[in-house]
Amino acid sequence: MSRTSTRRRRMWTAVGIVTILMAAIAGGVTYVKFFRELPAPYFASDEEHFLFGSTGTEAEQGVPYWIWLVLPRIFPEYLPRPGGYAALGILGKDGHEMPVGLSKVTVGFPRVGINCAVCHTARWREKPGDVPTIVPAAPAHQTGEQEYLRFLLACASDPRFNASTILGEISRNYRLSALDRILYRFAIIPFTRRGLLRMKRDSQWMEGRTEWGRGRIDPFNPVKFSILRQPVDQTIGNSDMVPLWNLKRHEGMAFHWDGMNPNLKEVVLSSALGDGATRRWVDRDMRKWDNTDPRQMSSLRRIQNYISDVQPPKYPFAVNAPAAQQGQAIFDSACAACHAFGGARTGTVIPAAEIGTDRHRIDMWTSGSVAAYNEYGEGHDWDFSAFRKTDGYVSVPLDGLWLRAPYLHNGSVPSITDLLEPPERRPKQFWRGYDVYDPVKVGFVTSGPDAEREGTLHDTSRPGNGNAGHLYGIDLPAESKRALIEYLKTQ
Ligand code: HEC
Ligand code: HEC
Repeated sequence: MSRTSTRRRRMWTAVGIVTILMAAIAGGVTYVKFFRELPAPYFASDEEHFLFGSTGTEAEQGVPYWIWLVLPRIFPEYLPRPGGYAALGILGKDGHEMPVGLSKVTVGFPRVGINCAVCHTARWREKPGDVPTIVPAAPAHQTGEQEYLRFLLACASDPRFNASTILGEISRNYRLSALDRILYRFAIIPFTRRGLLRMKRDSQWMEGRTEWGRGRIDPFNPVKFSILRQPVDQTIGNSDMVPLWNLKRHEGMAFHWDGMNPNLKEVVLSSALGDGATRRWVDRDMRKWDNTDPRQMSSLRRIQNYISDVQPPKYPFAVNAPAAQQGQAIFDSACAACHAFGGARTGTVIPAAEIGTDRHRIDMWTSGSVAAYNEYGEGHDWDFSAFRKTDGYVSVPLDGLWLRAPYLHNGSVPSITDLLEPPERRPKQFWRGYDVYDPVKVGFVTSGPDAEREGTLHDTSRPGNGNAGHLYGIDLPAESKRALIEYLKTQ
């Protein structure tokens, strides 16, 4: 072999080694900066874990933290009014960096995902000037989930969603390192924009269908179309948010408004998946299911334990005790069979023809979706088997009833007083989402300038918004209704 060819070979070997080294460094940087997942922040109390902890939604569905932070400042016009994310009914709590229901985890870079509390934590006040009370596990009647999604999508569709605008705004708050600035400029910002625009295409089906409004979502159509790959149909599944308290006492009952699954663990796991957790994350979390050390245990198990035991707050206003006692007798004869713990039909699916409420939510859930969900976890330890198709709505226990307003599966009746009226006398239009409570009608205030400013209009003539059916107690004399309402306050 000649000397030149040996030298050339050595040179190429050196080039090869340098290339491999550079690739390894680049690979290492890519891994650390884009994919390395740091442990989720630990919260000492189960309540804080529920409010702020991670349920694995950050990696795929999360928004980069610094982008998330500056969007309301760059695009305030896409929010209903000033105030940042709070204008969407997203709740802040003193002493916490993140709002309730939004979790922050570093997967390469800090990302913001949602957790259970964004839909399962409420706020209420007695008077407009009062400091609001936040109630974990209560239905989030004030939150505009669809508005939050639409806000992110509107930002991504705006030409100002670009590196110079976003990095300029970030630099007013925080000094990113030179390497991070390069990564944000050339990768994270354009990828985020592309991801959000993809989400916009995937959620095109929402357009033209009845708005969710405050305190409601269409929880299963996104799962059907995006996760279970079911064909897009014309159904409307708008559902009122539900409370997650006291679930140990709900054991054996059907969960979800239509009773689609009676197994709490499956409902908890599928909720996390539906909100954007990956199957891989759920696999990892399930391996820790039986660990009892709060620092090591499964996040979802910790949440399941919490919602099994946490109790609803008592009705905070005066109750007329003698009237409530009379009301109990009326409840026992007219309602208890379907609503009292231990009632013969409590927690079961009451056929649609019998209950007579708006049936859109029932028809949204198809037998194709049932089969697909029961197959979705095949090969995983948590494989689902309890999803089913029903034809009715569950006669839910009424624990914490005062905070479940507005009422029925689609939130179509603002107060208990209205629910005891015949459908034609129930309000046809009202505003949902305002947090001042009305102890006279027993529900939130749903009219007047404040409610109209803070809430969204519920129009019962829109598909999926109907307020018919559930005719129990409507013919009672006024005096008996008053007594029954006093009793219902104590539930
Ligand atoms: C984006 C809003 C949203 C998020 C996030 C969310 N849920 Fe829900 N959840 C709902 C709605 C709405 C329902 C009622 C759905 C229906 O049946 O139509 C519901 C129903 C439930 C139920 C059934 C309760 C009953 O009594 O029937 C359970 C349990 C539950 N969710 C647990 C969770 C857990 C655990 C998480 C977090 C891992 C979670 N949810 C996250 C909106 C949400
Ligand atoms: C035959 C069973 C049955 C009887 C009797 C019955 N209900 Fe119901 N109730 C249901 C069902 C089913 C639902 C859910 C319907 C829906 O959301 O579309 C419901 C829903 C409710 C809700 C709304 C709960 C929420 O979280 O939004 C209230 C309040 C209520 N019932 C009160 C009463 C009262 C008061 C009586 C007695 C006067 C009564 N019900 C009698 C079956 C019954």
